[in-house]
Amino acid sequence: MFWTALKRRGSRLLQSLPHDRRKELLSLLCREYIEETKTSMQYRRHAQRMRYPQFRERLLRIAEEEQKHAQWLEKRVTALGGEVPRISFAPEDGWNSWEQLRLDLDEEKRCIWDLEDQLIILDQIDPETAKLLRRILEEEINHRETITDMLIRSDPQAERPV
Ligand SMILES: [Fe+2]
Ligand SMILES: [Fe+2]
Repeated sequence: MFWTALKRRGSRLLQSLPHDRRKELLSLLCREYIEETKTSMQYRRHAQRMRYPQFRERLLRIAEEEQKHAQWLEKRVTALGGEVPRISFAPEDGWNSWEQLRLDLDEEKRCIWDLEDQLIILDQIDPETAKLLRRILEEEINHRETITDMLIRSDPQAERPV
């Protein structure tokens, strides 16, 4: 339902947006797609190396949500007549679980700042895409809280998990 409506809106937008505006919108969406995909890969990798199984599970759930965000963005790009890029990425490993969570928390913070920035522009260019990014932003804020909670419960001095 949500996507059908977005797609309808997408084709209308395609006709009404000036070429350079559409290019700008597509490059913004592709940038966000790359970030979401990389984040999902990073969290999956870090989850495998988590010391505690319950942390592994929580981080894996967040990784799945990041992947879902990437899929939403890809659908929007396609609806606007664009194509998402291929991504190859080698995530940075932390020295131990605490260090990995610290890297992941930095990632969430950066992502939230970035989305808030993009929303200022998007509200003027395309309110429908802005709505999608707000949905993503809400979940990023939850991720930031979950990762902060795990970080507080972790031991910075713990041995390397693998
Ligand atoms: Fe995300
Ligand atoms: Fe996130």
